[in-house]
Amino acid sequence: MRDMDMAIKIAKQVSENGGRTFLVGGCVRDEILGKETKDIDIEVHNIEIEKLIEILNSLGEVKKIGASFGVFNLKGYDIDIAMPRKEKSSGRGHRDFEIYVDPFIGYKEAAKRRDFTMNALMKDILTGEVIDSFGGIDDLKNKTIRHVNDESFCEDPLRVFRAAQFASRFDFKIDQKTIDLSSKMDLSALAFERVFEELKKALLKSDKPSVFFESLRDMNQLSTWFKEVEDLIGVNQPKEHHPEGDVFNHTMLVLNQAAKLRKDAKDPLAFMLAAMCHDFGKAVTTKIDENGKVTSYKHELESVKITEAFLDRLNKVNLKKEVLNLVELHMRPNQMYNVAKKKSMMRLWDKCICPEDLILLARADSLGRDKIKDYDEIEKILRASLKDYKNLMKKPQVTGKDLISLGLKPGEEFSKYIQFGHKLHLSGVPKEQVLRHISADIDKKQSL
Ligand code: CTP
Repeated sequence: MRDMDMAIKIAKQVSENGGRTFLVGGCVRDEILGKETKDIDIEVHNIEIEKLIEILNSLGEVKKIGASFGVFNLKGYDIDIAMPRKEKSSGRGHRDFEIYVDPFIGYKEAAKRRDFTMNALMKDILTGEVIDSFGGIDDLKNKTIRHVNDESFCEDPLRVFRAAQFASRFDFKIDQKTIDLSSKMDLSALAFERVFEELKKALLKSDKPSVFFESLRDMNQLSTWFKEVEDLIGVNQPKEHHPEGDVFNHTMLVLNQAAKLRKDAKDPLAFMLAAMCHDFGKAVTTKIDENGKVTSYKHELESVKITEAFLDRLNKVNLKKEVLNLVELHMRPNQMYNVAKKKSMMRLWDKCICPEDLILLARADSLGRDKIKDYDEIEKILRASLKDYKNLMKKPQVTGKDLISLGLKPGEEFSKYIQFGHKLHLSGVPKEQVLRHISADIDKKQSL
C-alpha cells in the first residue's frame, strides 16, 4: 500500500508536468486475474527523463538501477520506475542489447517490446484507464499466452521459458504461433541463473509443474537446458506398476502430486527438484529382458549422478546435498515400510538429511501413477517409524567425552568407535552396554 501511495504521488507530479504514469507488466495482469500483486512496475510517458529525475529527487532518495536505460528506484520503496524504451539485440547473449530511451515513443510502441499480450497491458494510475494495445484482456479471458511481436519476442530467448512457466502457473494454453516461434529460438546463450529462476517459479508457484515441461516438449525446447527430462520420453516402465506410460509421464504426475505437498515440505525447492530428478537414472538403466520384463535396477544411483551433473550445470546451490539425498533414497520408504525390520528403518532415517521430505516424496512417487491408491495408511506407518527414530535419538548415546574417559585420544580409531557406537545405538543397544563393548575391545587390543 505504501508503494502504491508513492506511485500515486509520482503520477500526480508527472501529470502536472504534462506526462502520464502507468502501472505495467505483471501487476496489471494479476489484478485482472484477481491475483495478489507483489511488486509494482510503473512506466512514465511524455515527460523528459531529466524532469522525471527531478520529480523523483523531490520525493526521496533516487537509486539509479539502470539510469542509461531509464530505470530507477526510490530508496525504501519496492517500485521499478521506468521510461519507455526500445531494446534491440546486438548479439547472442541476453546482455547484448542496445537500449534507446524515448519518453515520447507512444503507448503501443512502448508495449511492443513486452513478451506477451497479457503482460503488455498498461493501467493509468490516476484515471484507471487500461490501455490494451495487443488484445491482452481477451487473451486473459481466453486463458491464452500469445507473444506481442515476432521480432521483439526473439530478442530475449528467456521468453520461451517464461511462456512455459506462465502456462504452468496460470494453467493457460500457449498460442500455436507462439509455440512455433519459440521452437525456432536458440536458448544456448542464456545465463543459467535466469533459466533457474523460471524453473523455480514453475516448481514453486504452479499447481501443475508438468505443464512447464510439456510446453517445452511441444516447442521441442527441452534439449538445451532439460536434456535429462527429455531423455525420459519413451523410456518404458513395467505396465503393471505404471499404467500411466513412460518415465516422462510418470515424472510429470509425480511433479503434480509433489506440488500438492510442497507446502508441507521442510525445503520445498529441494523437494520439488528431487521430484523432478528422482527417475533420471531410468534413462540409462532400463532394460527389457527376453521375457519382455522391464527393469531398471539401481536406477536411483544413476539418478544421483545425472542429477548432480544437472544441478552443477544449472546452479551451484547449497541445496544439492539435500536433493541428491532425496533422489538416492526415494525408493526406500515404499520398499521397506511393511517388510523391513525396525533396525533397517532406523538406519534409513539416519541416512536422511530430511526424513519428513523423503516421506512426502515417497507419497508423490506412489500417487504419481494412473492407479490412484490410498497412501494414508502407508504414510501413517512411515511417520510412526520416524517418530520411533526421533525418540531413539533422544536417548543417551556414546560421545567423544565418553571415549576420552576410557583413555582414547581423538583420531582414526576414535571416529571408528563413535560410528560403531552409533550403529549399536540404532539397533537399540543401551549406552552402558555399548560402552562395555568398546571398553572390552580396547582392553583386548591393548593386551595384544
Ligand atoms: N518482461 C518481458 N520480457 C522478459 C521479462 C519481463 O517482456 N524477459 C516484461 C513483461 O511485460 C513483464 C514485466 O516485464 O510483465 C515484468 O517482468 P517480471 O517482473 O519478470 O515478471 P512478471 O510478468 O511481473 O511476472 P511474475 O509474477 O512472474 O513476477
